[in-house]
Amino acid sequence: LPIDLDVYASTDSTNQRLLSRTELGRGNFCLAEHQTAGRGRRGRVWQSPFGANLYLSAAWDFREGAAALEGLSLAVGLAVVHAIGRQASTRLQLKWPNDLLWEGRKIAGVLLEISGDPAGECRVIIGIGINLRLTARQRSVVDQPCADLTEAVGTFVSKNRLASALIEELVQTLVRFERDGFPAFADEWAAYDAFRGKEVRVQTAANQWLVGTCRGVDHHGALQLSTAEGMISYRGGEVSLRGA
Ligand code: BTN
Repeated sequence: LPIDLDVYASTDSTNQRLLSRTELGRGNFCLAEHQTAGRGRRGRVWQSPFGANLYLSAAWDFREGAAALEGLSLAVGLAVVHAIGRQASTRLQLKWPNDLLWEGRKIAGVLLEISGDPAGECRVIIGIGINLRLTARQRSVVDQPCADLTEAVGTFVSKNRLASALIEELVQTLVRFERDGFPAFADEWAAYDAFRGKEVRVQTAANQWLVGTCRGVDHHGALQLSTAEGMISYRGGEVSLRGA
């Protein structure tokens, strides 16, 4: 598969760069040293200072509808784990739907933006932010416990090598996901699940908090939460998870 990579010193958001292009297909990537309007999930800002961290996006057209893409963000989380594992050895965990944690603190995040027909062809923009070296300012404004790869690994990690490993892992993951769907990733995802068996609170779209115990994910990648009202299943984007 030919890889098309755009590299920017500075841009608004690598996701936005790919979203505003029309002539894309599979294998288009965008990398920036700095983002002026980096975005996170649920409308949040993704702090993106110059040079410190990795900001990468990929575009991929799927023939099947977005409905079949449940679980894709979980599979992408595994691709990030693999890419980091190729550079250095450290113990990482995944927080549903797609945060990467080290010692319970966030080290990377994934933002999927899907456009097109929910039942037919659609394009997915996959944005990945990995903290390589957090600045003091970043640490002070991020609203949750965070960590960077330098502290997780204890040595220098090359951003360029990490970016190329990530591109390779993403291509493999996307091809496999297209063919086999989330079931092909479910067992491995469970092995990295940071919250399995743990009591958590989830914040629903209606801004209510619900307490339950995490029971892993189903074969679509939906979170299974056992609560006083029975087992509830959540799809990515519906709720936000917190340790109780
Ligand atoms: C999250 O909230 O955890 C997701 C963060 C995703 C950040 C990345 S950085 C590259 C890409 N471009 C963006 O504007 N956001 C994503």
